[in-house]
Amino acid sequence: MDDLIQRAAKDLAAAKNVVALTGAGISVESGIPPFRGKGGVWEKIDPMEYAHIDAFLRDPAKVWNVLIKEMKGVVDRAEPNDAHRGLARLEEMGILKTIITQNVDGLHQAAGNTDVIEFHGNFAWQKCLDCGNRCETSQINTEQIPPRCHCGGIFRPEVIFFGELIPPQHLSRSQLVASQCDIMLVMGTSAVVQPAALMPVISKQSGAKVIEINPERTPLTGTISDYIIQGKGGEVTNQIIAKLEKLIQ
Ligand code: APR
Repeated sequence: MDDLIQRAAKDLAAAKNVVALTGAGISVESGIPPFRGKGGVWEKIDPMEYAHIDAFLRDPAKVWNVLIKEMKGVVDRAEPNDAHRGLARLEEMGILKTIITQNVDGLHQAAGNTDVIEFHGNFAWQKCLDCGNRCETSQINTEQIPPRCHCGGIFRPEVIFFGELIPPQHLSRSQLVASQCDIMLVMGTSAVVQPAALMPVISKQSGAKVIEINPERTPLTGTISDYIIQGKGGEVTNQIIAKLEKLIQ
């Protein structure tokens, strides 16, 4: 692994425009469970029954009780971990420009990254289905399920449910930055959900190097990725940053 860490540090030191694509795995060390694989949320509940917009509209109380309330508890307590802090350090070094994240936990911004495309929205805000009034998730009283706006309408999180479109402005900007980067750093994603998983393909086709950081291989491994560093996001990022600090001294 050490030679791959050294190789990644050298690649990043020589890079001018790095973009990262992150997924739920980068927040696992912050106590937020992933969706797939060991301890994955979708191993316990069916995403089509609880994370599809049609399911939410059909029975908002059920989705609030089983999925959203749980998520609120976990996200409220979560803090950035070494992987988030490492990406913030890469931005400070002028190496990392943009993060395309599939996560809705806001931890990249909390760690200090300033250009984060929230591909699947953000859990920090709720919106009334009727009048469009917004309310911070932290202010929602989950004693009353589903939570209601003062107009009587039901609140929904400003995340993208299955069955909903990725906000066009996020999709187009992600495609643009993916096509312009010289390295795409893919961290903590199973790379099975489209169109997010297409971004590293766009980068590769545009001549960028694609580096994966993940304990497990993914569909990108061996096809799109130049190499994978198989390890946990926080540990791997710490080791890369330590070598990088020496290289750019
Ligand atoms: N560090 C890095 N990666 C990790 C760690 C860790 N500590 N722990 C697990 N992983 C990896 C897993 O090996 C897996 O490849 O993180 C990945 C998590 O995959 P998913 O749970 O599928 O998360 P993600 O790829 O973000 O899912 C994409 O699916 O359900 C939708 O909208 C949801 O945004 C989500 C999308």
